[in-house]
Amino acid sequence: MIIVANWKMNPKTLKEAEKLFVSIGRGIKIRRKKRKKLPEIVICPPSVYLFNLKKELSSLRSLTPFLKAGAQDVFWEEEGAYTGEISPLMLKDVGCKYVIIGHSERRRYFGETDEMINKKVKAALKAGLYPILCVGETEKERKKGNIGDILRKQIKSALKGISGSELQTLRFSIAYEPVWAIGSGKACEAGEVRKVKLIIKKVLSSLYSLDVVKKIRLLYGGSVNGSIAGKYIKDGEIDGLLVGGASLRAGEFLKIVDNSFE
Ligand code: PGA
Repeated sequence: MIIVANWKMNPKTLKEAEKLFVSIGRGIKIRRKKRKKLPEIVICPPSVYLFNLKKELSSLRSLTPFLKAGAQDVFWEEEGAYTGEISPLMLKDVGCKYVIIGHSERRRYFGETDEMINKKVKAALKAGLYPILCVGETEKERKKGNIGDILRKQIKSALKGISGSELQTLRFSIAYEPVWAIGSGKACEAGEVRKVKLIIKKVLSSLYSLDVVKKIRLLYGGSVNGSIAGKYIKDGEIDGLLVGGASLRAGEFLKIVDNSFE
């Protein structure tokens, strides 16, 4: 089980980011004492905060197997004249394990194409990062009834030229994030998520062996909060959650962590 916090472009100051991180860390520490098994928790702050939060994490050392740092995006080159970009090697160097790739906000506001996402996935895997690939349909696409086609295209393009063995050695996750459910308060129903999971599995099975498909974790993201989180794990039969807005409130996020046991 994996719970990923996508802080997006929040909070506004490093001080607030550290406070939030420590509150979540302390909450996890308390839960760790009570339960042997915890989900893996990945916090993806804005990149400028990564290094400091990583330092905070070392002071919470007993938590490192559970609490990890991740990035919200990555560039595909290792170094060079690419103003504003951050390379997979740089993320690795500051202690990042996971990286979100192809989030719908990046596709929508920054013109990320399936080809760019494919390059990013390849570069992340090469650097030994664990990619969390985001896929999902818009409201318009859903109304047209072609969710399967959209997901098939997004997944096939993102994984083009990537072998099963490359995926198998690293933890690879796919997050189903319907665009209409992100930040809207209109979460996709758990039963619906279960159906989409089958579509995704089918697409993956057309590309890779059963062994590889079984290892790919499937997450859901889109307006998840503390009161509905457990439903996805139980009825949606998924391996984890990608949480935006609710991950900015330590109490709410910890409630999601608690519900992920049910
Ligand atoms: P949300 O965002 O939880 O605020 O809907 C999820 C995401 O964008 O990953």
